[in-house]
Parts: sequence; C-alpha cells; structure tokens
Amino acid sequence: MAKDSHEIKVFVTRDIPGGGIDLLKNEGFEVSVWSQDRPMTKEELMLAGKKANAMLSLLTDSIDKNFLNECNHLEIISQYAVGYDNIDIAEATRLGIPIGYAPGAMSDATADVAFGLMIAVSRKMFYMHKTIAKGEWSFFKPKANLGIELKNKVLGIVGLGRIGLQMAIRCKGAYNMQIFYHNRKSNPEAEKILNARLVSFDELLTSSDVLSVHCALNEQTKGMFNTTTFSRMKPTSIFINTARGAIHNEQDLFDALNKGIIWGAGLDVTNPEPMAATNPLLSMPNVAILPHIGSATIEARSEMSRLAALNIVEFYKRGKIPNLVNPDALAVHR
Ligand code: DGY
Repeated sequence: MAKDSHEIKVFVTRDIPGGGIDLLKNEGFEVSVWSQDRPMTKEELMLAGKKANAMLSLLTDSIDKNFLNECNHLEIISQYAVGYDNIDIAEATRLGIPIGYAPGAMSDATADVAFGLMIAVSRKMFYMHKTIAKGEWSFFKPKANLGIELKNKVLGIVGLGRIGLQMAIRCKGAYNMQIFYHNRKSNPEAEKILNARLVSFDELLTSSDVLSVHCALNEQTKGMFNTTTFSRMKPTSIFINTARGAIHNEQDLFDALNKGIIWGAGLDVTNPEPMAATNPLLSMPNVAILPHIGSATIEARSEMSRLAALNIVEFYKRGKIPNLVNPDALAVHR
C-alpha cells in the first residue's frame, strides 16, 4: 500500500525504547504514543484504535475479536514482540488486517534467561540468596543445599526455533548436553550443528534432565504441561519456561514439585502476570522465578522496536511487511 505517510496516523500503545518511534516520525508518519506507564485498558485501546490508521502494539494489549471488528479500518497492526497470542490472528486475517511482529530480536536475550534459570535452579540459587537475607547462614553443612550438575545431561526442548536453538547452543557449549527436541517440523540446522534429535513428545518428557519450553502459546500448547505430563518426567528433572505462562498449569506444577514428581522449575513467565507475591512457588527451594524479562536487554528491545516500526514503514512505502504473521490477510479485498 503506497500512501503519503503524512496522512497516516500511527498509534503506539506504550512508550517503547530503541529507535522505532523515531523511525516512524522520520519517515513522516503522524505518531502518537500512549503516555502512561501501564498497559492500556480495553476501552482505552479501542478509543485509540478508532482514531488510528495503524497500530504498534504490545503483548499486554487485548487485540481480540471485538476490538478487531470495532477497529476493522486498521490497515496494519505491528507487534513489538515475537509472540502474538494476545491477537486473534484468525479474525484479523478474516478482516484483512495484516499483523506484523518482531522475531529474532530477542533470541540471545531470552536464551540467556533460560540458561541462567537452569543453572539457578540446579543450585537453588534464588532460594539460597533469600536464606542469607533471613539470617539463616549459620555454618558449613556438608549434607545440606545439594544441587544437581548439568554436565552431559539431556536437554529437551519443546519448540526448537530461534530462541530454542540459542538455548541449545549454550547448553551444548557449556555442558556438552545432548539435545532432544520436539517440533512440528524438524530443525536441520540444530541437527547439523548440535546433533540434535527430533523425538516424540513422550520421549522428550521421559528422557530430559532439563526440559525447556520455547514454543508459541496456542490451542495446542495451552496447558501442555500439567499433572499428566509432569508425571511422565524424571524425578530429577528441571522444568524451564521462558515462553508463555499458560503453557504450564501453575497448580499442577506446584503439586509436581511438592510431591517430588519433578526436581525443580525456572520460570520467566507465569499465568497470570504479574504473579501474586504470596504464590507458594516463590518460597520453594528448587524454584527460580523472574518477572518476564526474557527480552529485557538494551540490544533486544532496540531491535524489537526497529523491526516493529519497520513493518509499518515498509507496508506503506513499498507494500511489503518484512515480518508478517498472516500473509492471507493481504489477499482479502477490503
Ligand atoms: C515476546 O517477544 O514475545 C516476549 O515474550 C516479550 O518481549
């Protein structure tokens, strides 16, 4: 869609870092940015959407069927994230609204968090830190606080894409871990460089010493980790989730840890977010939890900002969206 950018109103739903907003402004778009330091409510989002031609959205925005139908004049929505489970993609496609996203930008940053959580859990680091603050460091205890080593263990990955690959590279390089993965499609790069092995979901559950989740949240993966699946895992295994909290059932995870069905868990995502300060998972020794900081580096957030803005610029200037979720939307006559 080639159009004079001066006529185009782009609404950005949070003040994002990096050069994305400046990129849009420099290209002549009329840009407005939500000025408050909190996510927009559904009503606020709707009001803003009605006045815009294009939107740069965040994962905290509820871009549901109702929003899309009320704002079906929107020409493009570009998401400042790799995940887009907050957007009803089927409805956007039906309405002919293309959805852009920002993949690749946070692969290293998120893999670092998954890798860090794995080590932190294996040595109970977050919990041990808290015991010092509580004045519980008394003397050296030869039998207490024992962790698990990671050398030569099996890393199982659900959803070995860009982020999963970076996690696997770190685990192979640091600990010579054997890489198993479960995907819809094989990942030839991971097989070639890491000797990764595509296995069934059940084999992944039963063989992994560390099981790290890197898949998207959708109808197939929602609640995928629950009492039944945790019970297939090794009692010495560590569960890591840096993807989306709704992929595991939090109560079932607590029960699995509490009953020793699995050994530990590291989470950068919870359901809901934010997690309540009283959540019992926070006081468990073999658990490490972070507040969804996977992509929170200067480098990743800047690149996410640039990619999300670029989708909008390229769409209006050249009729192309570099990172497009739903190509079928472009074929819909509007
Ligand atoms: C994403 O990009 O989907 C992350 O979860 C947040 O940046």
